[in-house]
Amino acid sequence: MRAGDQGAEDLWAFERELATLPIDRLDVARPRLFELGLAPRYFARMRREAPVHHCADGAYGSYWSITRHHDVERVELDTGTFSSDHYNGGITITSRPDDPQFLPAFIAMDPPRHTEQRRVIAPAFSPQRLGEMGTQIRRWSREILDGLPIDEAFDWVDRVSIELTARTLASLLGYPVERSRDLIRWSDAMVALPGTPAFPTLEDKLSVMKECFATFETIWRERLKAPTGNDLVSMLAGRPETREMSREEFYGNILLLIVGGNDTTRSSISGSVVAFDRFPAELKKLRAEPGLVAALTPEVLRWQTPLAHMRRTAMRDVSIGGRHIAKGDKVVLWYLSANRDETVFHQADDFMIDRPNSRRHLSLGIGIHRCIGARLADVQVRTLWEEILKRFPRIEVLRPPARSFSTFTHGYSELQVRIPARL
Ligand code: HEM
Repeated sequence: MRAGDQGAEDLWAFERELATLPIDRLDVARPRLFELGLAPRYFARMRREAPVHHCADGAYGSYWSITRHHDVERVELDTGTFSSDHYNGGITITSRPDDPQFLPAFIAMDPPRHTEQRRVIAPAFSPQRLGEMGTQIRRWSREILDGLPIDEAFDWVDRVSIELTARTLASLLGYPVERSRDLIRWSDAMVALPGTPAFPTLEDKLSVMKECFATFETIWRERLKAPTGNDLVSMLAGRPETREMSREEFYGNILLLIVGGNDTTRSSISGSVVAFDRFPAELKKLRAEPGLVAALTPEVLRWQTPLAHMRRTAMRDVSIGGRHIAKGDKVVLWYLSANRDETVFHQADDFMIDRPNSRRHLSLGIGIHRCIGARLADVQVRTLWEEILKRFPRIEVLRPPARSFSTFTHGYSELQVRIPARL
C-alpha cells in the first residue's frame, strides 16, 4: 500500500462510494481498489444486489461482472457461447484484439487449436514428471528455509515465494536454475501495468520482454536440433503440432508458461503465510493433525485467489441470472467473488484449513482451460509447508503486506516477516 495520507484518503473515498453509489454505477475493476484490499467488499454488495452486474462505462469500458459461484461455473463450462479467443476479445478485462503487445497462446484460443496445443505440453505435468520435480522442490524448500535469518525482519515474497517458484519454473522449462531470476524479471514485465515504478513506460516493459524472446529463441533453435528431454521447450520443439508454430506463437506460449506458473504460485505461498498469521488457530490445528497439509492448498487457493478474474466474450445473445448479455459483450468471471460466495462457502471470509468443501474453489478455473499446472502448484505449496512445520513454530507478519496494484494478479509485492525461533 502506498504510504501516508493518500492511502487513508482513498480508503475513505472508496468506502463512501460503496455505501452511497447506486449499484449500477459501481466500477469494481480499478487496480487501486485491489491494492487497498477493498474489492471483496464491493463484490459482497454486488452478489447481494446485482450478482450479474453491468458496468456501462468503467475504466476498461463496458463489461459484465459475474460474481456468484454458480454463474462463474456456468460461463466457464459453456465454451460454445463464451469465447477465450484473443481475436474475439481475450482472457482479461484489459485485453483488446488490436493490442500490439499480444502474442498468441493456447489459453487465449478456443478448440480445436486450444486442444491441440494443450495436449502437447500436458506430459510435462505427468505424475512421473511431477514426482521428479517433487524431489527437487523438497531439496530447494529445505535449502531456502535453512538459509532464512532467525529473529530478524525479511521479505518473505523475495526470499521464499519468488525463489521457490523461480527454481521450479526454470526446471520445468529446462532453463539454468542458477539464472532462474531472469524468469521472474520477464514475468513481472509481462504483467506490469506501464507506469509502475519498475516499468515507468511501455518501452521499458518491451525491452525486458525482448530479452526474454531472444534467450528463448536461442534455446528453441538448440532444442529443435536436439531435444534434450522432458522440459517444455523440448516438447514444443519435438512435436509436429507445435514444431511448425510461428515465432509469435512460440513466444506467446513460453510467456504463458512463465507467467502462468509464476505470480500465481508466488501469491499462494505468500498468501498461506498471511492466512496463518491472521488465523493462528488454524496453524495449531495443522500442527495437531499434520495430515491436514493435504487440505492446505485448496483452502489457500480459495482464500487468496491468486488470479482475481478471467474474462470471456459472448458469441451470441444469452441470459444469465435474468440479465440479457448481448453477442460481443465482455464478460468478467470474478473468481475472487465466487470464492467468497456465502451460499457455497460457510463463513467465506475465514481461512479454515479443515473446510469440508474448499476444493470447490474456482481459483484454477474449471472445464477445458482448467489450470494445467494445478498439481505442480500443489506440490510447491504442500512441500514447502511440510518443511516449514519441521523447522519453525511460527512466522510473524510484521506489518500489513503490500498488495499488487492489479485487477488480475491478486497477490503481494512485499511481505515483511520475522521467524522468532527454530523448533
Ligand atoms: C490456466 C490459475 C499455476 C500454467 C489457468 C487458469 C487459471 C489458472 C485460473 C484458467 C484460465 C481460464 O480459464 O481462462 C493458476 C493458479 C496457479 C497456477 C491460481 C497457482 C496456484 C500454474 C502453473 C503453471 C500454470 C504452476 C505452469 C507452469 C497454466 C497454463 C494454463 C493455465 C498453461 C492454460 C490452460 C489452458 O488454457 O488450457 N491457471 N495457475 N499455472 N495455467 Fe495456471
